[in-house]
Amino acid sequence: MKSILVTGSNRGIGFGLVKYLTLQPISPQFLFATCRHPTKAEALQEIAEKHKNVHILQLDVTDFESFGSVVKNVESIVQDEGLNLLFNNAGISPKFTRINLVKVEQMTSGFMTNALAPLMLTKAFLPLLKKAAQNKSSESFSASRAAVINFSSILGSIAENSSGGLYPYRASKAALNAITRSMSVDLKSDGIIVTSMHPGWVKTEMGGRNATMTVEESVSNIIRTVLSLSEKHSGKFIQYDGKEVPW
Ligand SMILES: NC(=O)c1ccc[n+]([C@@H]2O[C@H](COP(=O)([O-])OP(=O)(O)OC[C@H]3O[C@@H](n4cnc5c(N)ncnc54)[C@H](OP(=O)(O)O)[C@@H]3O)[C@@H](O)[C@H]2O)c1
Repeated sequence: MKSILVTGSNRGIGFGLVKYLTLQPISPQFLFATCRHPTKAEALQEIAEKHKNVHILQLDVTDFESFGSVVKNVESIVQDEGLNLLFNNAGISPKFTRINLVKVEQMTSGFMTNALAPLMLTKAFLPLLKKAAQNKSSESFSASRAAVINFSSILGSIAENSSGGLYPYRASKAALNAITRSMSVDLKSDGIIVTSMHPGWVKTEMGGRNATMTVEESVSNIIRTVLSLSEKHSGKFIQYDGKEVPW
């Protein structure tokens, strides 16, 4: 993979992905680490100091108006190579959302960040994703050709929901899953894989300290799985180790 972009990369799983990718024997040529507040992202800045392939870009994924300039910025660096891999990782999980507490604002912000943002950001990056896929048009579907990984959650699985609540999070991730499926159909002829990824229950601010996996375990599994993606995985809901998750 020549070029990868990760949203929400200042902490949690997004930061773990960037860190892990810089430590690989063959790190991507261009690694775009986006976050809302680059000046406050000290750990990310330390990585970018050491690894010149890391480009930190400011991106609030709900600031849809800014997407055009972010895409231009990326294009000015990758030029005709396009963008191989987009990790739509940034996400929120509004708190106190049981039936008697949930608020309209929590539902709209959940949908904006977790569902609309990955859709609109992928739309904005389509020309670059298509370029990357086209450059390897003789190859079969793979993440090193072109892929979009939407960070979903098992909590967005309707089939697995036996504990209720979490309306903004569950509904927005279920919507993201529907978006993944539609995008996989729409982008098939362009050679772009689109997959929903459950990263596991991970020790981050969102996952909490009782989570079962460390960030390192999650991201190393995710990268291994992403590297093994093929056409059959497009439009699927999978977890960190490649196992399918019921919709
Ligand atoms: N941890 C888990 O157990 C778990 C399980 C299933 C799925 N997931 C999913 O995995 C992804 C990463 O989760 P995480 O555990 O790393 O969460 P986290 O520790 O809470 O980190 C969330 C990241 O998203 C960023 N973000 C939130 N809103 C944003 C916006 N409007 N624009 C740009 N960035 C924004 C945050 O940036 P700021 O620092 O600026 O807020 C932060 O970098 C999420 O999509 C989450 O739903 C996580």
